[in-house]
Amino acid sequence: MTILGVDYYPEHWPADRWPADARLMHESGLQVVRLAEFAWARMEPAEGQFEWDWLDRAVDVLSGAGLQVILGTPTAAPPAWLTRAYPDILPVDAQRRTRSFGGRRHYCPNSPTYRAHTRRIVAALAGRYGGHAAVIGWQIDNEFGGGQTARCYCEDCAAAFRQWLRRRYGDLDALNDAWGAVFWSQTYTDWEQIEPPGLANEKPNPSHGLDYDRFASDSWVDYQQLQLDVLRAHVAPAQFVTTNLMALFTDLDYFKLAGPLDFVTWDNYPTGQTERWGSQLYPPPSDAGADGQASHAYDVGDPMITGLGHDLMRGLKDQPFWVMEQQPGYINWGRYNPTPVPGVVRLWTWEDVAHGADAVVYFRWRACLYAQEQYHSGLLRHDGAPDQGLHDVRALKAERALLDAVRGATVAAEVALLLSYEDLWALDSQPHHGEFGYLRHLFTYYRALQRAGVGVDIAPPARELDPSRYKLVVAPTLHLVDEAHAENLRRYVAGGGHLLLSIRSGFKTTSNRVVDTPLPGLLRDLVGATVAAWHSLPPGVTYLLELVEMDGPSRPKSSPKAAFTARIWAEALEPHTAASLARFTGGPLAGRAAAVVNHVGRGQVVYWGMWADDAMADAVLGWMVEAAGVESAAAEVPPGVKVLRRRSGADEFLFLLNLGAREASVLLTSPDLTDAHTGQPAGRSVQLAPRAVRVLRRAL
Ligand code: GAL
Ligand code: ZN
Repeated sequence: MTILGVDYYPEHWPADRWPADARLMHESGLQVVRLAEFAWARMEPAEGQFEWDWLDRAVDVLSGAGLQVILGTPTAAPPAWLTRAYPDILPVDAQRRTRSFGGRRHYCPNSPTYRAHTRRIVAALAGRYGGHAAVIGWQIDNEFGGGQTARCYCEDCAAAFRQWLRRRYGDLDALNDAWGAVFWSQTYTDWEQIEPPGLANEKPNPSHGLDYDRFASDSWVDYQQLQLDVLRAHVAPAQFVTTNLMALFTDLDYFKLAGPLDFVTWDNYPTGQTERWGSQLYPPPSDAGADGQASHAYDVGDPMITGLGHDLMRGLKDQPFWVMEQQPGYINWGRYNPTPVPGVVRLWTWEDVAHGADAVVYFRWRACLYAQEQYHSGLLRHDGAPDQGLHDVRALKAERALLDAVRGATVAAEVALLLSYEDLWALDSQPHHGEFGYLRHLFTYYRALQRAGVGVDIAPPARELDPSRYKLVVAPTLHLVDEAHAENLRRYVAGGGHLLLSIRSGFKTTSNRVVDTPLPGLLRDLVGATVAAWHSLPPGVTYLLELVEMDGPSRPKSSPKAAFTARIWAEALEPHTAASLARFTGGPLAGRAAAVVNHVGRGQVVYWGMWADDAMADAVLGWMVEAAGVESAAAEVPPGVKVLRRRSGADEFLFLLNLGAREASVLLTSPDLTDAHTGQPAGRSVQLAPRAVRVLRRAL
């Protein structure tokens, strides 16, 4: 059963309203309610004085109405009394300013004091509800790192950082060597000399900076583990434990954070995410080859940005996930906060499900009358009447059977896209070109795969890649490479896998130093070529190139002459065992190889030596998808539309989502699909109304 639910704050409303709320939730087809993740001050109004009556009653009212409950641990919001009595819990920013009470997340994960209070409140809460029949699971804290709180620079963190470094390097000589500390007399002779970065009058040594990024991320993983241990000691084994993530938020290594959780959940605000991340993800204005964004309706959010969020969240544990907060209408934290038109909340729900969500929980039940989120919608309006979001949710009641049939189906992806937070941190601190963004580069390939109608999983470079599962692996940049990463890829390719590697790969060691061997370092044997030169191209500087071998049937449709223009980044390659795929025809690299293909074992590796624009990404992926035999669900996916697939037993479900404001038609590759609701044949060319979804079905 696909679960639908809602986030509810009983503490914001008079208790005599709760029964009516609970009844309406249940009647509307909702099954679960998340509660209490910011309610510490109500649970413990003074130190050691717990008040559970209100929460007991809220849980009873909800369960009495047939709803199940998820409880949040309230540690994202330490109360005023705690903050005042123990000011050492407060976080310190990079400028060494202590942050104050009045918002949320005002605590340091390394504070021994806060860790002790965390243990107390979590044990008390879990002790009380860990056996409650209505409680199905737990959310730890809320959005670790949100509101720019992932990195703290307090004295507790400085001490913990030194310990972390001791564990990593053992002795100072090793650290000095790994960091290249001989540079500018940075050599350390005592661990106590090492400080968190941030206040030096130059950018930090990149090895120091990357280790701080790793340390800060590990600090949250460790803080989460503290809560996990307390919860698992107190709660029934059937109650799950998770936390809620923020998709494309990059300050934390989400693969590590997700590891110990039962499953991943995330908070999906499509219009906000599009605004927040759009300019970092889409090509910069100076990149004239860009397709630009805005193929989506203004109130729906960008399907590619939402999609990458979903696919990453599914990839963290390689398993289905929940949406723990789903945008229910307008939000409050954008620059612009459009109100979705009727039907959009239903569309988002299907989009979540199409990408692999097992549950969709709407944030929040009723719009709040006061404080920071007054301007945020809920399923109910401020006055308590149903808002459009609730009408949409109620409309989903008629689609229950289909929602349930899809639950548990696997997202059928034959392509893996590799993403590494450490590569991202390293490159974003030394981009070398102001428009070179790690995620922007990756997003170019992600979008090209979506345009090709090909499903994609996101995986970390260390995950074992099985060639019988993934016909194609795309690694836009593998920057910090160790022998284990290289061996993982060698094994995959030797076993028959097709690998696309691109620029700046193999450039560094994992301690963020440049390798002392010819590029691409440890990946050179796989690539079968040497990167002889690399050029950062300022805006307006372009190098022309042409394809050498991608002619014939797989010649790119988008570019009849198969000529391209490189912008942002270009590398000149010298093939040894590889064959040239593309050659520069203009500029200082004219005549040299720009891309190569190398046959290794039963597989092959393409190294694409340029920052790809959309035309290039379509061309190289179009060719590789065909060469690898990756199945595409659609012959053509128009802008604003996406086509996603899930498989369950003998059935395949095809989700056609039009997130655009205009009618669109999708040309399918399979003739024998039927409408999943009506059973009628769907035909090859399927029309989609604006902001509409269609679910088709096919027997496998
Ligand atoms: C989320 C957060 C919620 C609420 C919501 C508003 O990021 O977890 O508590 O603030 O945003 O959109
Ligand atoms: Zn700290």
